[in-house]
Amino acid sequence: MGQNTPRFKLELLPPPREKVETIEILRQTNKSTAALAELKGIAKTIPNQAMLINAIVLQEAKDSSEIENIITTQDELYKALTVNKSNISAETKEVVNYRRAIFSGFDIVKKQGFIRVNDIISIQQELVDNTAGIRSMPGTVLKNDKTGEIVYTPPQDKTEILELLTNFIRHYNKIDHDLSPLINLAILHYQFESIHPFYDGNGRTGRILNILYLILNELIDVPILYLSSFIIDNKPDYYRLLNRTNHDGKWEDWIMFMLKAVESTSKNTILRITNIKNQLDKAITKVQKESPKIYRKELVELLFEQPYSKIDFVVNRLGVERKAASRYLRELEEIGVLESQKVGRETLYINKELIEILKQ
Ligand SMILES: Nc1ncnc2c1ncn2[C@@H]1O[C@H](COP(=O)(O)OP(=O)(O)OP(=O)(O)O)[C@@H](O)[C@H]1O
Ligand SMILES: [Mg+2]
Repeated sequence: MGQNTPRFKLELLPPPREKVETIEILRQTNKSTAALAELKGIAKTIPNQAMLINAIVLQEAKDSSEIENIITTQDELYKALTVNKSNISAETKEVVNYRRAIFSGFDIVKKQGFIRVNDIISIQQELVDNTAGIRSMPGTVLKNDKTGEIVYTPPQDKTEILELLTNFIRHYNKIDHDLSPLINLAILHYQFESIHPFYDGNGRTGRILNILYLILNELIDVPILYLSSFIIDNKPDYYRLLNRTNHDGKWEDWIMFMLKAVESTSKNTILRITNIKNQLDKAITKVQKESPKIYRKELVELLFEQPYSKIDFVVNRLGVERKAASRYLRELEEIGVLESQKVGRETLYINKELIEILKQ
């Protein structure tokens, strides 16, 4: 092993059917498909979709960026999204970029109904904040963090990278009525990471492509299923299986890993959504009872769109005067639904219960 390991040649898609559709895989596909269908159904019952999406995307942006060791505190992140601060840390900025990249990918999929290589390039660009684009210089290798040993050498030649990407995108956009889209998801994620088309941001771009793929295939309507926290929790397996598939071309364990990720993440997300919904209902009842004069459903829902609120949000969304908006928020604080905190000249109102749910 090491520097002289001959480069493994990445095959074009699709892999032979019998390698990706074993009995074990088919069994697990059923479980994962059912869990995801349940999530799709539950997500539909949330009346305010913006609330659902914002809260969950935010957490994903943070989790996914942590794989890259961009640790940013929850608190700093929420503030950065709420206050227009120029002095946010580079780490927080990366998380904010990730969140924006998910939304622009979602827009592309909704408008176009497919993805182009250029869309992948622009998603990656939003993530890394530079315009280097597809790798054109050789030298990118994947190393073991601890030992420094080279574990995988992706294709080095730009023509080869582009050829592999074109093949990748063709399969990505193909609606396959034969093979389960969840099996395809696993294959596509492996392929994308192994092509490793960029100098940096391949993992994050690949994780965004995962959610967009589920949406394209109508397995979910809005971007709320993220495998990142599962990947973080099982990072050694994730790396080991990618790496093993590189070397022996056996797909089964890798596909099983991804299928289990979908099942487990769907179940967790269902729980989280249920908790948010219950907490929202509780807050609605509380405001109706203790502050009936200011009660409006949209007002309470707004407090669940992101954990921090401010006067401007209320003014913009409910179309009320600043004075009224400020009074609403103060009153919500008095009855214990929010907690205020001064950041510079701005007062932010924190929904602590929501933060707790998102953290779980
Ligand atoms: N042996 C391997 N074969 C293929 N892909 C791999 C292998 N080992 C790691 N990877 C992929 O490389 C990604 C890291 O690449 P890169 O640093 O470009 O992405 P990132 O978004 O900056 O980082 P991260 O994914 O850690 O957040 C990992 O997330 C993983 O998906
Ligand atoms: Mg990186």
